[in-house]
Amino acid sequence: MVTCYDYTFARLLSRSPIDAILIGDSAAMVMHGHNSTLSASVETLRLHTEAVVRGAPEKFIVADMPFLSYRKGAALALEAAQALLTAGAQAVKLEGVDGHEDVIQRLVESGIPVMGHLGLQPQSVHSYGGFRVQGRSANSAREILRRSVVLEELGAFAIVLKCVPAALASEITAAHGIPTIGIGAGAGCDGQILVLQDLLGLNLDFRPKFVRPFIEGGRCVLDALARFDEAVKTGAFPAKEETYS
Ligand code: KIV
Repeated sequence: MVTCYDYTFARLLSRSPIDAILIGDSAAMVMHGHNSTLSASVETLRLHTEAVVRGAPEKFIVADMPFLSYRKGAALALEAAQALLTAGAQAVKLEGVDGHEDVIQRLVESGIPVMGHLGLQPQSVHSYGGFRVQGRSANSAREILRRSVVLEELGAFAIVLKCVPAALASEITAAHGIPTIGIGAGAGCDGQILVLQDLLGLNLDFRPKFVRPFIEGGRCVLDALARFDEAVKTGAFPAKEETYS
């Protein structure tokens, strides 16, 4: 599974073997340059979802429920989910469980598949004091395991585990009938997710431990731009065959 936010990459994903796409609220950081995911709104994610669905309509598409959109009661959460599902998503993802169990239940009962998200929950960045690995202490690990059990009981169809020790992710995976999708959670999860721009190496300034760039995309882009610039300045572009008569 990978994230995607736009039509062009969605077209490429459509030709790839990737099983599922997440329109993550990380769009706020990756596409809009914010320093957290808090600025992603329902409207922003609805627009990104529509673009991705146009590009990869046959893929399983999950859209993130933005910051606080599921903390103001079931009616507003249902409206947010409605906006994302009518944009073409087949499921929503939301962070945590404590305090919005009723909302998760309402979404599930309304026929909306819900993917959970535990471990590092970027929408809680300010309560952590930064983007930090979660579940390292025995207490915190126990809490994450407990929340994963509640999520399954509430009817979540899968759980993203972000930035937790590999042993904890494996324990959670073994404890559940629903799949876990890891990001910075080791190889013991049922599946893996990465932000597309990270796996393509497009961000030269952001290389956390859990990211493997499968291509140095940022350097490829810079190289192409330098070659275009040189070709224009030396008169080598456009050539005769690239010109209309
Ligand atoms: O928004 C996001 O990118 C995520 C990650 C887990 C991939 O939620």
